[in-house]
Amino acid sequence: MRRSRNLGLLLLFFAATLCVRAETGSEAWLRYAPIAEPSRYATLPSRILVLPGSPADLAAANELQRGLTSMLGRPFTIVHGVHGTDAIIVTNLASLTRAGAAIFTFTGDKLLPEAFTLGEKVEGKTHRLIILGADPRGELYGAFHLLEIVASGQPLPTKPISDSPSSPVRWVNQWDNLDGTIERGYAGRSIFYDNGHVRADLTRVSGYGRLLASVGINGVTVNNVNSDLRTLEPEMIVEFARIADQLRPWGVRMSLSVDLSSPQVVGHLPTFDPVDPTVIAWWRIKVDEIYKAIPDFGGFVIKADSEGRVGPSQYHRTPAEAANAVARALKPHGGLVLYRGFVYNNHLDYNDLKADRARAGYDNFHALDGKFESNVVIQVKNGPIDFQVREPASPLFAALQHTSQAIELQITQEYLGQQRHMVFLVPMWKTTLDTDMRADNRSTPVKEIVEGKSFHQPLGGFVGVANVGLDANWMHHPMAMANLYGFGKLAWNPGLTTDQILDTWTRLTWGNHPTVVSTIDELQRHSWHVYEQYTGNLGIGTLTNILSYHFGPGIESAERNGWGQWFRADSTGIGMDRTVATGTGYIGQYPPELAKVYEDVNTCPDDLLLFMHHVPYTHVLHDGKTVVQYVYDAHYEGAATAQTYVPRWQTLKGLIDDERYEQTLKLFTYQAGHAIVWRDAVTRWFQKESGIPDKLGRVGNYPDRIEAENMTAEGYTPVDVKPWETASNSKAVVCNQASGCSLTTTLDKPADNYNIIVQYFDFWSGKSRFSVDLNGKPIGNWIADDTLPPVRAENQPNGDTSTRITFPNIPLKPGDTLTLHGTPDNTEPAPVDYVEITKQ
Ligand code: GCU
Repeated sequence: MRRSRNLGLLLLFFAATLCVRAETGSEAWLRYAPIAEPSRYATLPSRILVLPGSPADLAAANELQRGLTSMLGRPFTIVHGVHGTDAIIVTNLASLTRAGAAIFTFTGDKLLPEAFTLGEKVEGKTHRLIILGADPRGELYGAFHLLEIVASGQPLPTKPISDSPSSPVRWVNQWDNLDGTIERGYAGRSIFYDNGHVRADLTRVSGYGRLLASVGINGVTVNNVNSDLRTLEPEMIVEFARIADQLRPWGVRMSLSVDLSSPQVVGHLPTFDPVDPTVIAWWRIKVDEIYKAIPDFGGFVIKADSEGRVGPSQYHRTPAEAANAVARALKPHGGLVLYRGFVYNNHLDYNDLKADRARAGYDNFHALDGKFESNVVIQVKNGPIDFQVREPASPLFAALQHTSQAIELQITQEYLGQQRHMVFLVPMWKTTLDTDMRADNRSTPVKEIVEGKSFHQPLGGFVGVANVGLDANWMHHPMAMANLYGFGKLAWNPGLTTDQILDTWTRLTWGNHPTVVSTIDELQRHSWHVYEQYTGNLGIGTLTNILSYHFGPGIESAERNGWGQWFRADSTGIGMDRTVATGTGYIGQYPPELAKVYEDVNTCPDDLLLFMHHVPYTHVLHDGKTVVQYVYDAHYEGAATAQTYVPRWQTLKGLIDDERYEQTLKLFTYQAGHAIVWRDAVTRWFQKESGIPDKLGRVGNYPDRIEAENMTAEGYTPVDVKPWETASNSKAVVCNQASGCSLTTTLDKPADNYNIIVQYFDFWSGKSRFSVDLNGKPIGNWIADDTLPPVRAENQPNGDTSTRITFPNIPLKPGDTLTLHGTPDNTEPAPVDYVEITKQ
C-alpha cells in the first residue's frame, strides 16, 4: 500500500516537472508544448498524407508531425501515396497536378500566390483535413496555421478558411558583419558569420528560417546595410550560397546588402558611375554569377549617400539611376532592389533654423516618383528621423504614388531599450500603419500604401530589422520575441489587432494558463507607452546619448551637432518648428489635409507636439497640463509602472518554467532600476533648463538618498559625471586602489524594515566586487559583471552604465552603521552613485 502511494507521488512529481519543463527559449513560439485538452482535437486524423514527388510537401508534413505529436500526445505518422483513408493531406496546386489525382474536389485553383486554404472534407466514411497551398510557401504557411490553432487552443475551423499575405515583400534585414559582430544587435554574435566567413555550423540559420516561415516571412537580407566591401567577391558568393541552402526549405529567399562602389572595389573598374556601360555590364555579370550559385536569390538592399556610404551623388546621378542600373541586372532572374529611403546629410548646420533632417527622405525622392524600374522598391523607415520612440509617419509614403514602397520597421530595439527593457512594438507600428495620409484627399493609410493597394503598385510590403543573435533565445529578452512574431503577423495582415497578435504569441510562448496569459498580455500591452513616458515624451524623440550606444539618457547629445536629431531646447521653450508658416516647412510635405492638422498647434496631437512645434514650457496641452509638468508627471508615472513589472511577474512563479522565469525576472529588475535613472536624468535636465520647478516637488528632491560623495570614504574619491544629469547630484565616487575602498554612513531612520538600494555603475571593462555591511555584519555582496547593461557601453559612469541592486526587508534603527566595500577590477573602479533607504 505504502509503496504504491509513493509510486503515485513519484509519478505526480514527474508529471509536474513535465508540465513546467526547463526551457531556454530557443523554440520561441514553436514550442509545441502538450496541451491541456487534447481530446478537443480528437477528429484530427493521425496520418499525414504526402503526395508523391514534392519535397516542399515533406517539410510541411514533418512540421505537422513534430508539432501535433508533441501537442496532442499521440503519434502522427507520415504516409506517402494517394490513399483513400482518413488523413491530413498537405499539398499544393503543383503537387496535386503532378500527382494527377482528383482525389478530392477543391476550390483552391483560385488561390493567390503564397495563399493557403484549410478545411475538413468528409466523403462517406473518409475524413480528411486538407491543407492546400497555392505553392510550396502557401502550403507551409497553411501547416503552421493549423499548428497555431492547436497550440493556442482555438477550435478547428468548421468551414474551409483561406488566407493570403498582404503583400509580396515580407523580409527581415540582419545587420550582421562578416566578422561575426552585429550592428545594433543585442543578443550575442552572428548566427551567420564568424571571423570573416560564413560559419561552418549553420544549424541556427535553418532554425531561423523555420521561425520566419512560421509567421509568413519570405526573405532575409543576411548582412549589414553598411555592407562589407568583400560582399560581392566570388569566394564570398560561394559562402553565402550555403546560407541560402539552409533557408530554402522554409521558402525564405536570401538577399544581400551591397555597396554601390562594388564595381570599383570588387570589379577593379575605374568608376562605379551607375550609367557607365562598363559598370552596367559588371552588375549584369555579377548578378548572373550569383544566380548560378543561388537560383532563388532575392535581390539587393542598397544604402547609399547616407552616413558615410558612397552613392550616386558622387557622379551627380540620382538614386533612380543607381537603383535602375542594378535592378536591370536582377530583373531577368526575378530579383528585387530594395533601395533605402534613408538618405540624408549628417553634417547639417544647427544654426540654420531652416535645416531639417526630417525633410531629407521626401526632398531626395519625391521628384523621382515613377522613374524607378518595376523591380525597385523604396524601403522607407516608419518615421522621418530614425526609429525614435515616437515619430510621425514619413511623408514620403504619400509622395511616391508611382513607385513600390516597403515600410522599414526596427525589431531590434536600438533606441527602445536594447532588449534590456521590455517594449512591445506592435502598437507603435500600428500607429504608423494606421496613419491616414489623406493623399489626394482620400483614405490612404500607410498600411494600404505599402501593400501597394492605394496607388496600385505591383510590389511593396514590410521589412523588419531583426538582428537575432546566437543567444539561445534569439533576442535576449524573452519578451522581445513578441516583436519578431508581431512583425511577421503584421506583414502578413496589417489589419490584425494588437490584442490578436499579443494574445496568440503569449499562448504559444508561455502556455494557455489564464493567469499567465492575462498577466503577460497586460505587461506587454502598455510597455511602449511606459517606455515612452520615461524616455521621451510629446514627440521629442528618445532622449538618449545619440553619440554613443543609443541606450541610456544623454539629453544634450542630440543638440548642436550635424546629426539633426535636434529638439532645440533653451531656457524659454522647446521643440522643432517644422511648420510651413515659420519653421522648416517639413509639415508641407504631407498631403494638405494632414498638413493642416499638424500645422496648427491646437490641432496637432500632443504626442507629436514637440516634433512639429517650438513652444514655451508653459504651453498648455489638451489635458490641461503645461508641457514641463507633463514631462515631470509622465516620467514619474512611467518609472512607477516599471517598478510594478517585478511583483506582477512574481505572481507567475511556478506557472512557467524556472529558467525563463528567472531570466525575465532579472531583466525586469534591471529595467525598474534603469527607468529611475532615466526619470531622474530627464526631469532634472528639464527643471534646470526651464527653471520651472515640479509642482509636486519630486524633481531634485530625494530625501531617502545618501550621496556616495557625502559618505565617509576610505580610498574612494569623488568624480564629476558626464553628462551631468546621469548621476544623482552629478557626482559619483571611484576607487583606484586594488585592495579596495569603502564608504560608511550612520543611518537615522526610525526603527522598521527597509529596502537598502545601492546605485552603482557597471562598466563593460571589468567585474568590480561589492559588499554591504550593517554594523559590521554582511547584508550581501555582488559582482558588477555587466550582464545586464547594454551589450557595450563606454567605460564611464553615465546613463548607460548606471544600475542598482536592492536588498529588501532589512531591519534598521537609528544609529546603525552602513558600510559599502568596493574592489575595482581592470579599468572599472567600483564606482558608486548613491545609497537609498526606502520603506517596504
Ligand atoms: C541608424 C543606426 C545605424 C544604421 C542606420 C541605418 O542610424 O544607428 O547603425 O546603420 O540607422 O539604418 O542605416
